[in-house]
Amino acid sequence: MNRLFTLALLPAIGAITALSLGSLTAAPVKYKLPEETVALKPGPNLEVVKNNCTACHSVDYISTQPRGPKFKKDFWQAEVTKMIKVYGAPIDDADVPKIVDYLAATY
Ligand code: HEC
Repeated sequence: MNRLFTLALLPAIGAITALSLGSLTAAPVKYKLPEETVALKPGPNLEVVKNNCTACHSVDYISTQPRGPKFKKDFWQAEVTKMIKVYGAPIDDADVPKIVDYLAATY
């Protein structure tokens, strides 16, 4: 009885194996990434910020920062310094104050 059951199962196992092998050879799935939906707000030095701050992550990282009216400039100065020192962002020294001014004025 047991043996009969095992024999009956064999073709099923074969079919399952064949199916999973089939999926290994299937064509790679193609998909399109969604368009970026958050854009930087307009303001002076927007281009500098666009060029330096959008390569590694979404603008969400900037627009969703919690912040208060005080210390805005210090906050953004520290953020930009962190991007350069900690994460290795290749930003020109001359661009740093422009970026900080834009961020403090706009966000
Ligand atoms: C070299 C890549 C790189 C560049 C260029 C870059 N960042 Fe980042 N940024 C990161 C990484 C990595 C994180 C941390 C990601 C995480 O924690 O998931 C981050 C996080 C952030 C955060 C979230 C808060 C935090 O401190 O983690 C803010 C805000 C931010 N970046 C702003 C900026 C601004 C403004 C610029 C342009 C001056 C910039 N980033 C350019 C890599 C970069």
